[in-house]
Amino acid sequence: MNAFNSLQHSVAATLASAVPASILLTDPDALIRYSNDVSGIRHGRPLLVARPRSTEELSNLMACCHRHGIPAVPQGGLTGLVGGAVASRPEGEIVVSLERMDRIRSVNVIDYAMVVEAGCVLESAKAAADAAGCLLPIALGSQGSCRIGGNVATNAGGFNVLRYGMTRDLVLGLEVVLADGRVWNGLRTLRKDNRGYDLKQLFIGSEGTLGIVTAVALKLFPRPEQVETAFLAVESIEAAMQLYARARRQCSDLLSAFELILRPGLEVALRSRTDLRDPLQEAHPVYILAEVSATGRIDLRGLMEGFLFDSGDILRDGVIASNRAQADRLWLLREVMVDRQGRGGPYLRSDVSVPISRIAGFVSDALAALARSHPDATPITYGHVGDGNLHLNVIPPEGMAPEAIPAMIHEAEEVLFDILDRHGGSISAEHGIGLVKQAAYLHRVDATTLDLSRRIKDAFDPCHLLSEGRIFNGHAK
Ligand code: LAC
Ligand code: ZN
Repeated sequence: MNAFNSLQHSVAATLASAVPASILLTDPDALIRYSNDVSGIRHGRPLLVARPRSTEELSNLMACCHRHGIPAVPQGGLTGLVGGAVASRPEGEIVVSLERMDRIRSVNVIDYAMVVEAGCVLESAKAAADAAGCLLPIALGSQGSCRIGGNVATNAGGFNVLRYGMTRDLVLGLEVVLADGRVWNGLRTLRKDNRGYDLKQLFIGSEGTLGIVTAVALKLFPRPEQVETAFLAVESIEAAMQLYARARRQCSDLLSAFELILRPGLEVALRSRTDLRDPLQEAHPVYILAEVSATGRIDLRGLMEGFLFDSGDILRDGVIASNRAQADRLWLLREVMVDRQGRGGPYLRSDVSVPISRIAGFVSDALAALARSHPDATPITYGHVGDGNLHLNVIPPEGMAPEAIPAMIHEAEEVLFDILDRHGGSISAEHGIGLVKQAAYLHRVDATTLDLSRRIKDAFDPCHLLSEGRIFNGHAK
């Protein structure tokens, strides 16, 4: 028996004293599915995968991990982009998959709230809200696979943040299994609650380092009865920002998406699928995918048309989807662009934010700097204008030697982050730090923030067993 197998054997035997052995997967073939996140870059072989069916089972599991010093990493739908949910500790780590805890516990249309278990796939939670005439407004490209617990752990963003906020803004309450197995019950649907510290906020966005979310109470909204989607072309990012400022005022604050796509991104989508067509006659440098949505007696089409008519001085061209199928085809361009941009290989994925007022200046400075430092690479730029959040990705030149690519990605990131620092931005707007962005984070974080963060980690996970080493290096106490 090699060292991995004997460690796996003893950890499995220890855990089987606390939970049914049937919830533990140890078969090497079965473990493969739990070893990679969607970035395709992170691989990590877990010692085993535990798949609890209830909060109580997970509580027993974690209490046992705590007693025996077994490190664990919680895992949702594996759609993360920073290696936060794959096993990576050199000394071995178990994966705790929440996939079997996927029930919808309740939907209450008077409270406009639903309670779902952490392993519930986002799309299923959205469908349950929809069936009750409500909207759960977390909208992500990965919503068919990502799970609510992961959305909470990473404070997921997405397309509708400008109207409804990040996941943090949508969480009313949480149930969490702590590192020592205790259950913290903060599963409330109260809209207002100022009793002491708001502990749930610490778990949201903590990337699995402070506790394992088992259930979430989420805010709902009336389901929009009308949605209008438009694909618009403008001359420059400055023009896109002018259009955004105008849309905020003129669309009665009903704007639910305002996505920026630069021409090279649209070309990726058009090249990768022959069934996709450029929605407009001619090529333009900058596109906006905008959506307004509303309930009640409002002439939403008239509102959108009026806004576009009044913006004739800024717009070069544009089209409004005439039905849902057409709107879906416009959104498909955005989705295909994201999926195909890297041609299946590694590339620099960035997820940065700047104040909205600095988007145009930042993108222009960053693209100029990258054109100087990496003239043969292809930048693909898109983002969520209303959130000041940009994905400025850099694709290595075709034919570049695979062994040269990691260094190129690193250098391009340094060029980008240097410009970002000058614009007062954040290196992670929505994807988190995990392992992938850790060095860049530690390079910038101030000593007081780091000190307070480490004390919080120590308070919640004194033995440093949960997602240890993610975000910051929890070892250096
Ligand atoms: C997006 C995700 C990847 O904006 O953040 O497509
Ligand atoms: Zn995004």
